[in-house]
Amino acid sequence: MKLMNPTNPIYIIGAGPGDPDLITVKGRQLLEKADVVVYANSLIPDSMLQYCRADAEIIPTASQSLEEIVAIMIEKVRSQKLVVRLHDGDPALYGAIQEQMTALIAANIPFEIIPGVSAFQLAAARLQTELTVPQLVQTIILTRISGRTQVPEREELSSLAAHQASLCLYLSAHHVENAQAKLMEHYPSDTTVAICYRLGWEDEQIITVPLANMAFTTIAENLTRTTLFVISPALNHNQKSNQERSQLYSSHYSRLFR
Ligand SMILES: C[S@@+](CC[C@H](N)C(=O)[O-])C[C@H]1O[C@@H](n2cnc3c(N)ncnc32)[C@H](O)[C@@H]1O
Repeated sequence: MKLMNPTNPIYIIGAGPGDPDLITVKGRQLLEKADVVVYANSLIPDSMLQYCRADAEIIPTASQSLEEIVAIMIEKVRSQKLVVRLHDGDPALYGAIQEQMTALIAANIPFEIIPGVSAFQLAAARLQTELTVPQLVQTIILTRISGRTQVPEREELSSLAAHQASLCLYLSAHHVENAQAKLMEHYPSDTTVAICYRLGWEDEQIITVPLANMAFTTIAENLTRTTLFVISPALNHNQKSNQERSQLYSSHYSRLFR
């Protein structure tokens, strides 16, 4: 009896926020081997495709529905192709992978997820900041404001703002006035906000302003496409204590923690 080849998994890979050097080694190696690469061309720069084989089939999906995208992936993997689905940033964050995974499970197609660098991580790196500064802030909140997708009421931005944590606001630039109003219910108006526009892309811009100017600056500078806001007491601390040596590196601190 002839045995059927088992189906390859589909690889769902986080490409990172834009800079092609920020994909993981595992993600890049799979991209180099892939027969078919399905990717959201509006969110991932073409430069990421430099890793693909010259004869790989590249399928941009910006104008396709999720159902169409999943149908293509299933058809390709069933014809024994190595299929990569590229997502921007990390697929687990606002990547709509749940729907894709449900459809793949229903079709009995195995899949594997390779994580990526999320926008908030590149923001922290560019800002040269630690988002968890001892004694100041020890929590990071990744969230968004309600738009076409409703945020559950218990996760309302103003109630999350009450923690005054390091808050990274995704998918909210089109509602920035509303976001600022909700944040100002709890954060002091001079809390530093980093407006991070298209991190890792050639036209990247990062502007830091007091919270009171967040909406005005975003709109005036037209930074509403692919923008992440980082609101954090750590950014004020950063500005104040750039010259101070961190306690972590003082000679009194145990080496264990370095
Ligand atoms: C659909 S979500 C995807 C998030 C992505 N999975 C991640 O982990 O970064 C898109 C939102 O993420 C943020 N974002 C993604 N890439 C970005 C980048 N390169 N620069 C700034 N913000 C980015 C923006 O808030 C944008 O509206």
